[in-house]
Amino acid sequence: MANILEPSEANIQAGKILFNSKAQPIPCAVCHGFKGDSIGVIFQWIKPYARNFTCYQTMEDISDGQMFWIIRNGSHGTRMRAYEKLDDTQIWQLVHYIRSFQESK
Ligand code: HEC
Repeated sequence: MANILEPSEANIQAGKILFNSKAQPIPCAVCHGFKGDSIGVIFQWIKPYARNFTCYQTMEDISDGQMFWIIRNGSHGTRMRAYEKLDDTQIWQLVHYIRSFQESK
């Protein structure tokens, strides 16, 4: 499954807003950190740890389709919950935003 959206500035910005504040019920940044490095506010209490999205080696192994699936369905047995209220466009915007963390390194 490939990202259907262009990695345009507008899509990345939309993903950023979802990531930092709009995603319900808990914005992603609470766990994944505002810089995507998973140094989030409640980082210390999460096991297994949320991944470091800024790490190229970690992210190389995760396809866009896998990210989409996890955001939609959650990761069973972890704090990563299903985000059922997000539509496909919003999820793909988040995937672009998450990918943009590596490029800024
Ligand atoms: C309550 C904490 C929490 C919140 C909020 C959260 N996540 Fe996660 N997320 C996690 C944890 C912990 C993992 C690691 C799960 C695992 O090891 O399988 C994870 C895994 C992921 C992964 C998969 C990467 C991988 O490890 O394969 C993606 C993509 C992701 N999260 C994106 C998001 C997005 C986008 C949001 C907001 C819409 C979000 N997360 C909100 C805790 C959180």
